[in-house]
Amino acid sequence: MKNYGIVLAAGKGKRMGSKISKQFLDLNGKPLFFYALEAFENSDVDSVIVVCSAEYKDYCENVLSIYKEEKTFSKVEKIVVGGTERYNSVYNALKEISDADYVLIHDGARPMITKDIINRSLTEVKKHKACVVAVPVKDTIKEANEEDYINKTLDRSSLWQMQTPQSFEYKLIAQAYESAMKSDLSAITDDAMVLEEYDPSFKIKLVMGDYKNLKVTTSEDLEIAKVFLKS
Ligand code: CTP
Ligand code: MG
Repeated sequence: MKNYGIVLAAGKGKRMGSKISKQFLDLNGKPLFFYALEAFENSDVDSVIVVCSAEYKDYCENVLSIYKEEKTFSKVEKIVVGGTERYNSVYNALKEISDADYVLIHDGARPMITKDIINRSLTEVKKHKACVVAVPVKDTIKEANEEDYINKTLDRSSLWQMQTPQSFEYKLIAQAYESAMKSDLSAITDDAMVLEEYDPSFKIKLVMGDYKNLKVTTSEDLEIAKVFLKS
């Protein structure tokens, strides 16, 4: 049985607005995406695929080959070039894998991921074939109309905020992505949605994540991540 972590690092980080893409920015002395690679290295996952843009391929190859030799990131098996949207990057990675039983798809921009959450995901995906890390919503969430007036208040007790990793039986998610790539993907924001569209009856399990497992999106998030890492 072989399972893969897919670490996505092919985004441009437009909302961060920094010169270097956010996943490569320095975070307390290390490039931000190293934190996710460390968590996967220390987890029960067998292999890791890193997805980056063509622009950063040489940088990733150079830095990761050094760390692979040093055994810091011994699990990194391949560096794949991503695509325009997140789903293109995921699809490119899935196409590069042939021998996987399970894949754990993770945003490289989530540095606070831990080996425990990864291992929990691995246990759950083996039971349920599909699971996503998430946390219960803390704020009241309302639905609004186009003029920004409230339509209604949603029942918070059933609302969860999605995080990553999102984990799947490889064959299942590869088929779902294959089918999705033939249709309109503009509304797709996570991997679970690809499976929801492919098979609306499929039961995707939620795995308890951590409020600290934030996605670094804007500069405030970077400041928060720095604080979390110090504590
Ligand atoms: N990602 C990717 N390929 C893309 C877009 C995103 O691999 N074409 C990755 C990002 O690098 C990040 C994760 O998917 O690790 C989540 O995406 P997001 O936070 O939206 O990152 P960016 O797309 O880089 O940021 P922005 O949307 O602000 O441009
Ligand atoms: Mg994006």
